[in-house]
Amino acid sequence: MEATAVLASSSPSPAFPPSSRRKLHPSISSQNLSFLVRSANLRSHHASSRPLRVYGSAVTLDPETKRQQRNSEEADYFACPICYEPLIRKGPGGFNVPAIYRSGFKCQKCDKTFTSKDVFLDLTVTSGMKEYNEIKPVRTELFRSPLVSFLYERGWRQNFNRSGFPGPEEEFNMAQQYFEPVAGGLLVDVSCGSGLFSRKFAKSGSYSAVIALDFSENMLRQCYEFSKQDESLSNTNFALVRADVSRLPFASCSVDAVHAGAALHCWPSPSNAVAEISRILRSGGVFVGTTFLSTRLNSPFSDGVLRPLRQFVGQTNSSYNYFTEKEIEDLCKSCGLINYSCKIQQAFIMFSAQKP
Ligand SMILES: C[S@@+](CC[C@H](N)C(=O)[O-])C[C@H]1O[C@@H](n2cnc3c(N)ncnc32)[C@H](O)[C@@H]1O
Repeated sequence: MEATAVLASSSPSPAFPPSSRRKLHPSISSQNLSFLVRSANLRSHHASSRPLRVYGSAVTLDPETKRQQRNSEEADYFACPICYEPLIRKGPGGFNVPAIYRSGFKCQKCDKTFTSKDVFLDLTVTSGMKEYNEIKPVRTELFRSPLVSFLYERGWRQNFNRSGFPGPEEEFNMAQQYFEPVAGGLLVDVSCGSGLFSRKFAKSGSYSAVIALDFSENMLRQCYEFSKQDESLSNTNFALVRADVSRLPFASCSVDAVHAGAALHCWPSPSNAVAEISRILRSGGVFVGTTFLSTRLNSPFSDGVLRPLRQFVGQTNSSYNYFTEKEIEDLCKSCGLINYSCKIQQAFIMFSAQKP
């Protein structure tokens, strides 16, 4: 199905020099690619784009030390959600669900440890807290329910088609086009839900690693169940992380691609969220999001002169936050992103913007 491009303020023009774009040769299989991408990117691209911390004091690099050093490099993906310092990882090497599950992560600055719960690594600020409990707005809490998480990929998401969402396959292909300039890099699927798109990104072999991130423990459990059934995911660099989009556990300028499918309208503070996404993207990094546009059907003050009245209704109304296309563009630009472009079909919008 073709999405109608009603606005393309500028097509996604990469800020990358052509030499740094990783076009994939058709003869490269996804398994080979995983290996190539791991060796080429984990060691050169990421090593050059941010400082690598090697913890340990070995002088001679025997095989065991080399293995530990490699583990330390992999740990560098995650940062403390409180101070954004890289977390130190202790545990088996490898960037995959079981290896991360068995690892412990620690922020030396905050003296806080982060461990895995069930199958995902909990990198929320509240991770490990015993007494303190925080309730988010209904649009966030709803998706923490086991029932909604179970139903999400089993019917709930299909309903979005009625509002103009083209469906997972087409949405994935559209996003992949926007992400072309950052192929080979690290992709974070923020608010991944049950991992509908995270799994597709991971299987595509287009990225050095894919992190499926959500605030809902039950969505992450569903994501684990789905990925367990898919053997082709076992050889990919894939991790499940619980985090709040307003406090992303990554160092500034460390991520190549951020995807956020059908999520903007669910976030407690879309402006804090997009600011966070902008912070973690490295120069040239690409953000792609989809959401429902504000329409007369979903919002009494969808646009025009009545739009400003929405804030008074919003105070008593806990439903989703729908925006106009202009508001989304303004939001991206205000958070320092450039090259904004979008595709719209009925109430569906896919937008993209880039870190300068
Ligand atoms: C409608 S689902 C979208 C799932 C998937 N990305 C898709 O395209 O179908 C919205 C997701 O946003 C997540 N979410 C809501 N508030 C969040 C927050 N503060 N931080 C991270 N994720 C959040 C929910 O848990 C839910 O999984």
